[in-house]
Amino acid sequence: MPEDRRFITFEGIDGSGKTTQMRLLGKRLRARGRDVYETVEPGGTAVGQQIRRILLDSTNQDLRPTAELLLYFASRAQNLEQCIVPALRAGRVVLCDRFTDSTLAYQGYARGLGAGTVLALDRIACRGLSPDLTLLIDVDVDTGLARMRARNANGTAGETRLDDEPREFHRKVRDAYLVIARENPGRIRVIDGRGAPEEVAARVWENMQDHV
Ligand code: TYD
Repeated sequence: MPEDRRFITFEGIDGSGKTTQMRLLGKRLRARGRDVYETVEPGGTAVGQQIRRILLDSTNQDLRPTAELLLYFASRAQNLEQCIVPALRAGRVVLCDRFTDSTLAYQGYARGLGAGTVLALDRIACRGLSPDLTLLIDVDVDTGLARMRARNANGTAGETRLDDEPREFHRKVRDAYLVIARENPGRIRVIDGRGAPEEVAARVWENMQDHV
């Protein structure tokens, strides 16, 4: 993998399967001898996990959009400084489950805070570090919601604040992702997320060919 392609993010609507795909890619890269560091936003550090708890707690219905936005960036700033930058400096491949594109899609577009505000905060929190490659695992909203309901029924209860959002919200998020992908064709690859995890993983791997 060329030196400049080591920070890889996974994006997609809730239930898109991006977390599964990130794990599978991590395994495959490790099998090829790569030193891989996997992380998640929000929550990749101890501080981030505490922030994540606030963000995803379904009892925090009064959390205001701007406070929510700043909390996502607080988690990210911590992760970047504490883990992501050191891992990249150590020559590791960093895989991150969600990054600033999530904030752009969810807070910037779907919640209407605006892309300009999100990008201004990104400049403060990320100081110019952006992913070298982003894999957008794309599924339609009904597929995502069905997968998410199945997962919630299996018990990750308590982490459902955003998962309770109406269908229209998820449609906005998906549309936003596709717009962001069109605006960043060099960085973002849109992967068809339908089908079995192995089928999607094969599509992810195809898109990695110029990066491994
Ligand atoms: P997560 O556990 O990552 O959900 P999933 O496994 O479906 O990806 O939950 C994170 C939730 O937070 C998800 O609903 C998306 C939302 N989110 C934002 O709204 N803004 C952000 O900047 C990030 C990183 C996540």
